[in-house]
Amino acid sequence: MNAGISISDRITFDPEMAPGNVVQLTREEALDVGPDKLASLLESPARMARDVHGLLKVVGAINAIRGLIWLERPLFELILDVIPAERGAIVLTEDTGGSVPPVLTWSKEQASPSLRICQQMTDRVLHEGLALSSNGVVSRNDTAPRSAMAAPLIVFDRTLGFVYLETTKSDIRFDAGHLHMLVIIAAIAATVLENARHLQRLEKENQWLREEVNLQHAMVGESPRMHEVYQFVGKVAPSDSTILLLGESGTGKELVARAIHQSGPRNRQPFVAINCAAITETLLESELFGYEKGAFTGAAQQTRGKLEVAEGGSVFLDEIGELASPLQAKLLRVLQEHEFTRVGGTRSIKLNVRLIAATNRNLEDAVRQGVFRRDLYYRLNVVSKSMPPLRERQQDIPLLANHFIRKHAAKAGRRILGISRQAEAALLNYDWPGNVRELENAIEHAIVLGSTDTVLAEDLPESVLEAMPSAGALPSQFHAAVRETKKQLICAAVAHAQGNYTQAAKYLGLQRSYLHRLIRNLSLYDALKRSI
Ligand SMILES: Nc1ncnc2c1ncn2[C@@H]1O[C@H](COP(=O)(O)OP(=O)(O)O)[C@@H](O)[C@H]1O
Ligand SMILES: [Mg+2]
Repeated sequence: MNAGISISDRITFDPEMAPGNVVQLTREEALDVGPDKLASLLESPARMARDVHGLLKVVGAINAIRGLIWLERPLFELILDVIPAERGAIVLTEDTGGSVPPVLTWSKEQASPSLRICQQMTDRVLHEGLALSSNGVVSRNDTAPRSAMAAPLIVFDRTLGFVYLETTKSDIRFDAGHLHMLVIIAAIAATVLENARHLQRLEKENQWLREEVNLQHAMVGESPRMHEVYQFVGKVAPSDSTILLLGESGTGKELVARAIHQSGPRNRQPFVAINCAAITETLLESELFGYEKGAFTGAAQQTRGKLEVAEGGSVFLDEIGELASPLQAKLLRVLQEHEFTRVGGTRSIKLNVRLIAATNRNLEDAVRQGVFRRDLYYRLNVVSKSMPPLRERQQDIPLLANHFIRKHAAKAGRRILGISRQAEAALLNYDWPGNVRELENAIEHAIVLGSTDTVLAEDLPESVLEAMPSAGALPSQFHAAVRETKKQLICAAVAHAQGNYTQAAKYLGLQRSYLHRLIRNLSLYDALKRSI
């Protein structure tokens, strides 16, 4: 009985309603109307004067508003001034980027009423681009309005949705003049809507740019993934929330932590970095929290920990996934209560620091395995960001390479003009398991070992060269020979081990993971599969 497609809780399209006495109008017909035609449609000069006046008000109001959300109320009020409808809706079928609600409804009696709309009518309006009015909509149940009108919202050749009006009063009939008015209003509204959307896009872009202008950071990269990172920094820097940075090693997590600190209100206070993996549990505890005199042998005097040193500033806890579990509990207390106790002490010390943590570990897994406290994980994971690996933002490789060339050439006191095409091809072709850190090391290697004013492919580390595309692009006879020899050794070892890679790695005296990297970089998988 109640068949119909609902969009939001406001509108249901009823397939059982049928329009009667339909008048239809194309947009061109409506917009091409001259004063004479309009005069005949509107019957009386008084009505014409009233409608033109109403229309001018609509235009004025519409131009003063910047988004559909602000358009709703004045638009419907003005429409109801010139058209004797009781209720109406604007329905958008095109994605509006989430900023504009897809459905607005309005009535004389209540805001946001629910409407049942004749589906046949809207199908025609949307698919044929026609404006329709129907006096005498019929329905098997009693839900049909007496009269209804709908006009498409069209910009260029796209239909964004439609405007709908209805009345339940039997003494009111929508006429051709009303339909004309509705088409004209819909045409204006569609253009305004499109402009509002365009404006919104520009404002968003502008906001991004502004956010990035105020950023203090040392990061290089113009890829969309890096812009996401800059925007993240811009958003979180002003706040005090705890941040969790995720991502492979060498992706720039520490750089992001410093950028958040530098771009935020604490930037005149210290930034203290602590590597949770680098020292033993007991040392880390006293390093973090400090200790009281006599707390342990050698504690000759009271000493402040790094948390205290960072007072007012930011603390960067690197490799937080490696934090021993007793320290996890103590850190949780710091996060929850903003206080801590020195080793060997009893007094609680209040603390005002911003915490930024980083890890290359999958903390969810660590929680599941019981090596990382769930409550600490949740407390850290309020705002988090995953740093993109370098292989997923290849367009940044040449920029970064040139950045590191400048940096290390200056350090080495050498004049380097740039990088050869072959060397750049090798950099682009390599998959950088060590990310930016590895790229920086590769460039430093090339600058230290190279002898010309250009970074050449043969100056790069072996691992990078192995990844060079083989087709005619090899840097030198020497490297070609080295590469060939490596291939032969690996193939022989794998054949000897009958396809057992662990065994083959043993024969070669290599780590299994390094063997796999060699095989991948030398594109040997297919050859090996064939040979076994
Ligand atoms: N986007 C970047 N631009 C310039 N240098 C970078 C960038 N990302 C990382 N680096 C450099 O790479 C090295 C590793 O970065 P780091 O922040 O320590 O990575 P992570 O903490 O993720 O291991 C550092 O020397 C850093 O300066
Ligand atoms: Mg690091």
